[in-house]
Amino acid sequence: MINEILGIKVSGQTILKSKNVFNILAKIRKMLKDLQPKIKSIILDSDTSVDARLQGICTLLKENVPYYNWVGYYFKNGDKEELKLGPYAGEPTDHTIIPFGKGICGQVAVSNENFVVPDVKAQDNYIACSITVKAEIVVPLFVNGENVGQIDIDSNTANPFTVEDERFLEFVNNEVAKIL
Ligand code: SME
Repeated sequence: MINEILGIKVSGQTILKSKNVFNILAKIRKMLKDLQPKIKSIILDSDTSVDARLQGICTLLKENVPYYNWVGYYFKNGDKEELKLGPYAGEPTDHTIIPFGKGICGQVAVSNENFVVPDVKAQDNYIACSITVKAEIVVPLFVNGENVGQIDIDSNTANPFTVEDERFLEFVNNEVAKIL
């Protein structure tokens, strides 16, 4: 599937796919690296509100990474042990409040660690937003060492996320932390 996303046609033979793994990862790395200066320029646009800048980042990611189909921010809701939906790009979701511990997002709120889900059907503690979603990645956002929220990405592609996405989304969240 990831080959199709990146426009690399392979015959379907495993051996041929494995030869292309380095090429595929290099393409993903370049695609994500090229977005870094764009993220920085959105962050630096101090005439724009924080929410509008977060919205801009969500839209930039959704529009430029083919396997990012829903991109949103959740933040700790004041003193409550729950997450509240912030800016996002993609279909509206009913899950605007998520208790800590519930779903992938709620688990990241308490684990403070990245959560990569290659196949959402294999997760017991998962909150479905759309039947089209096959995979999810959630990366926590730290301000002064405190987990204040997270970026959440849903994919309609099976098993699309690699360590490249984790490093990239950590970069994005480090940038976002500068304006919170
Ligand atoms: N799937 C998430 C819920 C949020 S939606 O993906 C927008 C979860 O299990 O926490």
